[in-house]
Amino acid sequence: MNRSDAGVVFDLDGVITDTAEYHYTAWKSLADRLGVPFDRQLNERLKGVSRMESLEIILESSDRVFTDEQKTKLAAEKNTAYVALIETITPENLLPGAQEILELLKREGYRIGLASASKNALPVIKSLQVAEYFDYIVNAATIKNSKPDPEIFFAAVSGLGLTPEVCIGVEDAIAGIKAIKAAGMFAVGVGKPDILCQADVVIKNLREFKIEDYLQYVR
Ligand code: BG6
Ligand code: MG
Repeated sequence: MNRSDAGVVFDLDGVITDTAEYHYTAWKSLADRLGVPFDRQLNERLKGVSRMESLEIILESSDRVFTDEQKTKLAAEKNTAYVALIETITPENLLPGAQEILELLKREGYRIGLASASKNALPVIKSLQVAEYFDYIVNAATIKNSKPDPEIFFAAVSGLGLTPEVCIGVEDAIAGIKAIKAAGMFAVGVGKPDILCQADVVIKNLREFKIEDYLQYVR
């Protein structure tokens, strides 16, 4: 079978590997240092969102006013902590089912894309040793509008040489699911159904990803 007329576009952090947790850890230590409240509920708003926009969300509850220069430094501080965490990544950090689904999709000929907002996506993908599965990886630095804007998914789909109706997007973030739907794609949420209620289907992890169940929705 060759299904090169259909594609699957994955988010990275929290879908293929648990770097969503590393982002949380790095933001948490910055927030603690600044004395700003930050918990897992607020963290849901950060998922899928760019570095600077994440910082703005964290600073919403601070009484202090930060200059752009200070904000740039704070974002760099978070990134330094994050980069130190991802240096330890190996293929063992792939989330359950990730390797298997990438292998299956590749074997069956589907086009595979990556639509991560992270500027650290490439080193992470390389450390996980899964780069060769991807036919197209969006460069986050070229994207002007963050998720929930569909721009990054449009870029992925067109990089694969396909159109949105024949593509499935896979996301762990509320903003990401919104972006997939705004792009006109079928949305698979990875996580909790109460959080990802706007997805077309929600699975616990990629072990539950069943391409044959979703094909009826992609034309
Ligand atoms: C997304 C993450 O994939 O990338 C966000 O879900 C993160 O939490 C964003 O802020 C940007 O990542 P980076 O590595 O460019 O700071
Ligand atoms: Mg994510």
